[in-house]
Amino acid sequence: MRTDSEHTIYLKDYTPSPYTIVAVDLDFRITAEGTRVRALLTVEPREGTEPGTPLVLDGNELTLTSVAIDGAPLMVSSYAADADSLTIVEPPLRRFVLETEVSLKPETNTRLMGLYRSSGTWCTQCEPEGFRRITYYLDRPDNLAVFRVTMTAPRDIAPVLLANGNKVAAGDAGDGMHYAVWEDPHLKPAYLFALVAGDLGSITDNFTTASGRKVDLAIYCEHGKEDQCHWAMDSLKRSMSWDERRFGREYDLDIFNIVAVSDFNFGAMENKGLNIFNDKLVFAKPDTATDGDYENIERVIAHEYFHNWTGNRITCRDWFQLCLKEGLTVYRDQEFTSDERSRAVKRISDVQTLRSAQFPEDGGPLAHPARPDQYREINNFYTATVYEKGAEIVRMLATLLGEAGFRKGMDLYFERHDGRATTIEAFLAVFAEANQIDLGQFQTWYLQAGTPKLTVSDSYDAAAQTYRLKLEQKTEPTPGQPTKQALVMPIKFGLIGPNGSPMGWSHVSGGDVRDDMIVLSGDSAEIVFTGVANRPVPSLLRGFSAPVNMTTTLTQDDRLFLARHDSDPFGRWQALQDVSMALAVGAVNGTPWAEDAVTALRQAMADTLANDNLDDAFKALALVLPGEALIARTIGKDIDPAKIHDVRDQLNRAVFGPLTSQVTAAYIKLTSDLPYAPDAASSGRRALRNRLLGLLVASGASEGPKLAAQQYADASNMTDRFAALAVSGAAWTGEAPVLLADFRTRFGGDPLVLDKWLSVSASAQDDGVLERVRAILADPNFPKNNPNRLRALVGAFAMNNPTQFARPDGAGFRFVADFVADVDTRNPQVAARVLTGFRIWPMLEPVRRAAAKSALTTLQSKGGLSRNTADILTRTLAG
Ligand code: TRP
Ligand code: ZN
Repeated sequence: MRTDSEHTIYLKDYTPSPYTIVAVDLDFRITAEGTRVRALLTVEPREGTEPGTPLVLDGNELTLTSVAIDGAPLMVSSYAADADSLTIVEPPLRRFVLETEVSLKPETNTRLMGLYRSSGTWCTQCEPEGFRRITYYLDRPDNLAVFRVTMTAPRDIAPVLLANGNKVAAGDAGDGMHYAVWEDPHLKPAYLFALVAGDLGSITDNFTTASGRKVDLAIYCEHGKEDQCHWAMDSLKRSMSWDERRFGREYDLDIFNIVAVSDFNFGAMENKGLNIFNDKLVFAKPDTATDGDYENIERVIAHEYFHNWTGNRITCRDWFQLCLKEGLTVYRDQEFTSDERSRAVKRISDVQTLRSAQFPEDGGPLAHPARPDQYREINNFYTATVYEKGAEIVRMLATLLGEAGFRKGMDLYFERHDGRATTIEAFLAVFAEANQIDLGQFQTWYLQAGTPKLTVSDSYDAAAQTYRLKLEQKTEPTPGQPTKQALVMPIKFGLIGPNGSPMGWSHVSGGDVRDDMIVLSGDSAEIVFTGVANRPVPSLLRGFSAPVNMTTTLTQDDRLFLARHDSDPFGRWQALQDVSMALAVGAVNGTPWAEDAVTALRQAMADTLANDNLDDAFKALALVLPGEALIARTIGKDIDPAKIHDVRDQLNRAVFGPLTSQVTAAYIKLTSDLPYAPDAASSGRRALRNRLLGLLVASGASEGPKLAAQQYADASNMTDRFAALAVSGAAWTGEAPVLLADFRTRFGGDPLVLDKWLSVSASAQDDGVLERVRAILADPNFPKNNPNRLRALVGAFAMNNPTQFARPDGAGFRFVADFVADVDTRNPQVAARVLTGFRIWPMLEPVRRAAAKSALTTLQSKGGLSRNTADILTRTLAG
């Protein structure tokens, strides 16, 4: 029996492999009955490797059929093979070619790692450890090799044969078979390997790089969906040109292919020259995709493309460094969207994502550093912390260094590490060197888990004309990290005078203040501004310049003042959120809001709506109360989701109910019969109009539900139709069941639209929802192996239905736990991900807490769980 600690992998144990594989020649013979893989691996001992050091290759569920070195078959005594490894006992201490042959069964691969079939198409997913399910290999990102791939497959079912790099040969192979040979000249780790074989349609285009290389672009998809790929192609070309302009990075092959598949564990994968995408992040047409879908497609196409430099040419030394490529690439895709659309709106929505996905992770049982130092299952570390907090850390670096200093560091990074596998330390070192600064303390952001609390208080001395800001930081313990260090926090700020304009000072002391930024690096600082003529209102943490939870001593009046006057749009948005949050939290904790406090908030909301200087997309984000999950986490303990749901419902009625006529008028005014276009301005207009519809429904306006039903019926695009459905479903209006039924009949044949129906169905917070979700899942036609369908239904229920998942009778918890146990037998990654919905449990009130714990312990006692699910379960329960 293996214990947990035997499975744990530690960063401190990193050692280079005694052998490296420098060249890979793969030969795939693909048939409907199974696939045979022959691998010729050119192996070299690393300098200093002792004679007799075995070569140990990774495998997973492999069946070895032959093994040879330099053409000579090995005797049974000179190797040891099982499904999960191949050991060559005493390899030659010189360059040699290891030849292996394995047989695979992609047809039954439901884990969707390695080679599998999705709707008949053969495709691969190798990150992080899927290549070992294809052939025995040094499946670690620091082994860089050149790859040559020959594929032979039946021409009728697989006319399209793709792999990384350039196609160098193709032809007939007899017996209805044909072949293609692909070569990738760039060194790469095995996790970037990809192959696709199938009967696919495509659209093509081209892009000429700044230095004149003509690149052929293609997007492959199931036949009949070609017309839905044009937005993705457009996004790709804009990404390619943006990376040249903004970072001086050009594409480096003559071909760039994207393939859309319908069974995929994640969003998309940056395989060299052959990105593979979850089809929901490729397909778009106005009557089936929302504005949100269009923006996501643009973002993920950009993200995977940007990996070509940050991830592929410069890759990770080991999986602890995952954030090196993911945090940096998310930062790059965020900047791309900011440049292509509205920077302010993008920042606000990124902060919303950070707060709703990363902060809960960082404040719960699954908290871990952006660069973890141990793991049992690396697949469980593709998290919001690695991705989103990782991007925030890079953003702070850019804020601290300024645009020019940041670019200098990036240039040096590309120059020095191109073609290598490297680390977070090396990444920080180039910025330190290029800017002649010390980033030693800054590195703590990567090493320390938990969201820091930043507490700010202020005081003004009118006689002395001095203004003081006291800042304090503190990070609570997280699993495995009982004590915490102070972090370097860039706090962008401004002082605002009584008339609403910026206020200066003649002198500042007591802290590191640079222009519009305070850099807090100790536990606390007291900053004194002199020559301040009036009491200012401080705008702090502008643009959310550090990923912290800030509490201030500002009054509700100060916040309302900021909501009106802050020159920083993020600051205005945050101020409104803070005012609402204070009322909601007070009410949940037993202090009902005062009438005049609600009136003041209502006035601020009304003024925001009426303000012609604000753009629609910003208004859409501002005119909304903080969500139930955010209120819950602000309260932080003994959470009663039902009570929070009720309080938010009442606050919606109190604040927005009396605004019904203004909201209705604005809603009507925004109605447009222009044809659909996905640009930022048109989508902002729809976002605001749909937000107003949401307000009418949520605030109990008598016309709200009817209006939503009307919009649903009249809509000429999916954005408007789905918004009407979603607000009706969320409020579970009388019309909701009818609309849902209609939506199902109209769109049930389109799997990606079906997902929208599944999510709305699972997110309704009425008492009947659990039975409906059960019934949907029990339907024999429900596609039980498709990650998108499973996540849309049960993922939404566990993550997006706070009251019904956390029913006090425990039925919601038991349902999700049973689901996890079942799916775990087929797709552990999907199971483990859904299980993370339980991370809220330690914060719940005692009855629900006990119910959640009991569901988790029952799951544990069943045993037989995958390593993915067992890891999440153990850590969740330990919290
Ligand atoms: N590297 C991918 C990204 O762009 C993540 C990814 C794709 C992935 N497929 C995966 C991670 C499968 C784990 C398992 O972010
Ligand atoms: Zn990525």
